[in-house]
Amino acid sequence: MTFTKICVLGLGYIGLPTASTFATHGLQVVGVDVNPHILETLRNGGLHIHEPGLRTLVEAAVKSGKLTVSEKPEEADAFIIAVPTPFYEDQFGEYNGQMYKLADMRAVTSASEAILPVLRKGNLVVLESTSPPRTTVDLVAPILERSGLKAGVDFHLVYSPERVLPGQILRELIENARVIGGITPASAQAGRDLYAVFVKGEIIQTDATTAEMVKLMENTYRDVNIAIANEFARLAERVGVDVWEAIGLANRHPRVRILSPGPGVGGHCISVDPWFLVEAAPDITPLIYKARNVNDAQPHFVLDLVKRALGSLKGKKIAALGLSYKPDVDDLRESPASEVIHLLQHKGALVKAFEPFKPDADLPGITAVPTLEAALKEADAVLLLVNHTELRALTPEKLAALTPARILIDTVNGWVGKNWEGAGFVVHCLGVRK
Ligand SMILES: NC(=O)c1ccc[n+]([C@@H]2O[C@H](COP(=O)([O-])OP(=O)(O)OC[C@H]3O[C@@H](n4cnc5c(N)ncnc54)[C@H](O)[C@@H]3O)[C@@H](O)[C@H]2O)c1
Repeated sequence: MTFTKICVLGLGYIGLPTASTFATHGLQVVGVDVNPHILETLRNGGLHIHEPGLRTLVEAAVKSGKLTVSEKPEEADAFIIAVPTPFYEDQFGEYNGQMYKLADMRAVTSASEAILPVLRKGNLVVLESTSPPRTTVDLVAPILERSGLKAGVDFHLVYSPERVLPGQILRELIENARVIGGITPASAQAGRDLYAVFVKGEIIQTDATTAEMVKLMENTYRDVNIAIANEFARLAERVGVDVWEAIGLANRHPRVRILSPGPGVGGHCISVDPWFLVEAAPDITPLIYKARNVNDAQPHFVLDLVKRALGSLKGKKIAALGLSYKPDVDDLRESPASEVIHLLQHKGALVKAFEPFKPDADLPGITAVPTLEAALKEADAVLLLVNHTELRALTPEKLAALTPARILIDTVNGWVGKNWEGAGFVVHCLGVRK
């Protein structure tokens, strides 16, 4: 199948890089979003998200006339759905007295419905949003079939998971292996033809539900692995071991790869996707459920660490460095850093937070300041919550000049190996018993 014009629904971290990359590879692309602020920003040459290289790519795509934006889809050869798939904040499932989170598929539903009036025979529709198993066949296909066209017969339908690493999206979009799950082999082939426009990594064809499972299994595997790293950190503190050293040594085993502990698991993917598997079958997923709970509880262990370092938290001024869910990105969604700050404040601490990738961060109930200096100025203690390169690079001399605080609490092993004691600091590190 060949493609001249496509619509990409959802212009966020995934949709905008995807739309721009197709445009710079010669396709006519209509980027669709329901958020008027995003459309206006893009129309004015601005950008609403931070991703290295994205500004240049979007500018090139717009300048060439190949990328335009719109509030609704137009007739095209293919449609890509890259809208959010969070969980509900206020609705839960229950199995044997245990509550689990439920996927909020309203954006996928409304994006599919938006395609309905412009869907034509021979089109390809691709769902890229991370989705519970069977979403493509049980949710998207029936909506699109309201057009009178039959999925897999009159139009092609595909699930293709996105596996890019924020911070490396533009390179990984092109170089990563891509799984294409068709509801028929012909659909998978059509999906392959589309992504072959720019993908240089291997393109592997399978069925739609397998492709959905692949994405969920990848992220769940990482969540469970981080949960065990967090439990190892708790154990290390109990038995008097440095968990970072122990994990480093364990990982010298050729078949062991333990991930890093930290203040918890956040973001749009790993802290969300395992719930889609629990929801699909709560009776047979106790490990996945437990891992989610272990990681969600981790901010409480950071609170304990801070209490050990400072004693009573009442009135203590804490500079919290980093608000994003992982290093070197500006994405604050589901960030455990926010949860840690709320817990500290609940115990009476006065927290000033600084996020270098979003100096104007605006989070409910959190005082975020625009500079490192403002966060550190009057602090009693400094709490490192995200291993951002620029925070990790702070030297004892630089920090000593910026803050009267001499107590450092490092939840990510970012300040390892520096001569903090020489500069008068006491360091408390997660997973290390002093
Ligand atoms: N961000 C990542 O690193 C990443 C990686 C892999 C997979 N994913 C998955 O990709 C999907 C999109 O994630 P994201 O990070 O790009 O989300 P995002 O929130 O950055 O962007 C989604 C965009 O979709 C728009 N939108 C919502 N409903 C819409 C609709 N009905 N029609 C058109 N636009 C609509 C929103 O306004 C927003 O701009 C999610 O399912 C996510 O789990 C994300």
